Amino acid sequence: MSNFHVVDHPLITHKLSIMRNKKTGSKDFRELLNEIAMLMGYELTRDLPLEDVVIETPLTKMTAKMVSGKKLAIVPILRAGLGMVDGLQSLVPVAKVGHIGLYRDPETHKPVEYYCKLPVDIEERIVILVDPMLATGGSASDALTMLKNKGCKHIRFMCLVASPEGVKKVQEDHPDVDIYTAALDECLNEHAYIVPGLGDAGDRIFGTL
Ligand code: PRP
Ligand code: URA
Repeated sequence: MSNFHVVDHPLITHKLSIMRNKKTGSKDFRELLNEIAMLMGYELTRDLPLEDVVIETPLTKMTAKMVSGKKLAIVPILRAGLGMVDGLQSLVPVAKVGHIGLYRDPETHKPVEYYCKLPVDIEERIVILVDPMLATGGSASDALTMLKNKGCKHIRFMCLVASPEGVKKVQEDHPDVDIYTAALDECLNEHAYIVPGLGDAGDRIFGTL
């Protein structure tokens, strides 16, 4: 089974509660989402390997530690994943960004692919797949399959709110992928929306309600 992490730092939980409130408008929603993405990114990158590099301080030569080896790629699932990219990139400015376009069919709730553009060397990178909502898990699972089909071997998935059903699906389909979420909610409703959740993340980010 993959590792499942709830990153429930008080600041993250506080910001998420503001986002959940239906009175919170798009501007604040977007800002908070990026702030949380940055805070979660700190946790998500905790195990990045370091290497020794010889540098000179103004006083002397020293062997300093710097992040080594593998480079990162951030891959948002469109649309709502876009809302987490700036926050993560402020932490890792050199990360390349790929895009996977999926939308949920309103009747079947199954994901439909409409776009995929990834860095050419994606298979050599540690990939952070991002999408605020892990509901049925269909979109995340399909996106992970697409990344693996392109040769990616080191992938972690970051969301904001997860349902137990979504976590189960991703763990079953992709036991090698670590899942990071800011909250694990109660269940899905009859429209496959997360309850209590925060509504439609894409609509709230882009004001398309
Ligand atoms: C939402 C969300 C996820 C997906 C989650 O996207 O951003 O991608 O649903 O649901 P799942 O776990 O059941 O697959 P949506 O399809 O509404 O598209 P949008 O981001 O373009 O609004
Ligand atoms: N997509 C969303 O944006 N919200 C949900 O609760 C489920 C899917």
